[in-house]
Amino acid sequence: MRLQVVKAEAFGARAASQAIETLQRNPHAVLGLPTGHTPIPLYRTLLAKAAAGAVDLSQMRVAMLDDYLGAQHGNEVSFYHWLQEHFLRAAGIGDDRTLAIPTRAETIAADCEAYERRLREWGGCELLFLGLGRNGHIGFNEPGSGKDTRTRAVRLSESSRAANADYWTENAAIPEQGVTMGIGTILEARQIVLLVSGADKREILRRVLEGEPSAEAPASWLQQAPQALALADEAAAGRPAE
Ligand code: GLP
Repeated sequence: MRLQVVKAEAFGARAASQAIETLQRNPHAVLGLPTGHTPIPLYRTLLAKAAAGAVDLSQMRVAMLDDYLGAQHGNEVSFYHWLQEHFLRAAGIGDDRTLAIPTRAETIAADCEAYERRLREWGGCELLFLGLGRNGHIGFNEPGSGKDTRTRAVRLSESSRAANADYWTENAAIPEQGVTMGIGTILEARQIVLLVSGADKREILRRVLEGEPSAEAPASWLQQAPQALALADEAAAGRPAE
């Protein structure tokens, strides 16, 4: 995995330029998309570029990265809802072009297999964006997640549940389990961009880049992915932009 450091104000534009290049090569490309605070500048920039006619989002397809087990799609506390609100609706990307992470507890194992099958039928992720959890998670692959894991339900750590609380209105109940694209699934993407911003991610980013790859900080598996780029702002990287 390579590291590129950019100024905070250039973070969204640099991430968006990778999506735009991919879509210019293949307007039908499947982009894997995360939720959270970090990708917001990416989504804002992509929507602005689309409004200005600089990119065509009318055929791209989206594979979601993660969600909560048991989340209802209409419910505010769901990543599907979050992605609708922050990107999909404004981009005009409907359910026919969105591969949602399954959330139905009763059938989750079979639904995760169906998600993987569908992703393969779509040709896999051409470009997958990821955020970085403070404990080194990517998606909801919490510490302990091995390199070969596939899309599945997982128990969330207390620190991840606490960090997730500020995505939603005060006192929202954060589910105890999530569902995530697995590490093995993530590593099959043809391009991967790990988005990291803010000084509070500096220490974990250093571990992820420099520590021995291990399940203790699952994002460190990306060191073994030559197609991966860590895109960090100066605060997260702890050094000036190139
Ligand atoms: C969350 C999500 C991840 C996200 C990460 C970082 O818990 N499961 O998909 O990328 O943590 O979130 P943020 O960008 O808000 O720091």
